[in-house]
Amino acid sequence: MNTNQLKRIDQLKKEKNAIILAHNYEPPEIQDAADIIGDSLELAVKARSVTEDTIILCGVRFMAETAKVLNPTKTIILPAPDAGCPLADYLTPDMVREARKAHPGAAVVLYVNSDTAAKAEADIVCTSANAVEVVRSLEETTILFGPDSNLADYVASRVPEKQIIPLPKGGHCYVHAVFTCDDVITAAEDGFTTICHPECPREVRKGADVVASTGGMVRMAKNADSWMILTEKGIAYRLEKLFPDKEFRVREDAVCVDMKKITLDMLEHSLITGEYAVELPADLMDRARGPIERMMALKRE
Ligand code: 13P
Ligand code: SF4
Repeated sequence: MNTNQLKRIDQLKKEKNAIILAHNYEPPEIQDAADIIGDSLELAVKARSVTEDTIILCGVRFMAETAKVLNPTKTIILPAPDAGCPLADYLTPDMVREARKAHPGAAVVLYVNSDTAAKAEADIVCTSANAVEVVRSLEETTILFGPDSNLADYVASRVPEKQIIPLPKGGHCYVHAVFTCDDVITAAEDGFTTICHPECPREVRKGADVVASTGGMVRMAKNADSWMILTEKGIAYRLEKLFPDKEFRVREDAVCVDMKKITLDMLEHSLITGEYAVELPADLMDRARGPIERMMALKRE
């Protein structure tokens, strides 16, 4: 552990009146430097209410942009400006507008893992922690849901009274696509309780004991002694730190390249220089804020 660098980062944070928010998948040293670690919803909730002048968002672009939309007077910094989310790239604003035309009367629910310009076309946004509640909260019975078709399928299984149309068909996260039924079966044979992210393929979700957001995984870890965690492997560091007496198994090849882009050097550089601040057109932020705030008004998972 680079103790001197962590101390410098801490000092800079105070000087700049900054707070560091990090996603559960971030590398260990970034989690160690963070003030708050969480899932997408927890980070958005925190970002909305921070009093510091600057938020250093250690995650991927959609998370930093969501923070900016929710708290536009703050400086939001993404230390690795090219940290994106390939899942978000499946959906463009045009695709949302076209789908609306093809399905008049349907509600559009967009996963927070989408571009701000796509969110601006949505009726409401959701995260993996609240997707089921968000869809249940709507009066429409036909729902256009994107861009993750696995999450759409999970929501369909939990809300069978509604028709869920994936937008587009086949949008998925490559990290969660690595998991198979064999992972679940082998882990169960070895005595592990299995918990998977809703971005996992259907057969994995069906076989797992629990389906949860990364924040849900952290909250539920107390309920068993050994867990097979079917999501990005970075979360194991947080779980092992919080629950040193428990055993956590992950797949070493379940790696989100974009979540590993931020280094301590980049974090320190961001605090010194203010690079790279998120800038979005005011009218775009105004249009995206409604669907995001509508989600925030709902009660938590
Ligand atoms: P969570 O909101 O569950 O942390 O998920 C974010 C994500 O990108 C999953 O791949
Ligand atoms: Fe996007 Fe998948 Fe990485 Fe999550 S794990 S940020 S969905 S690419």
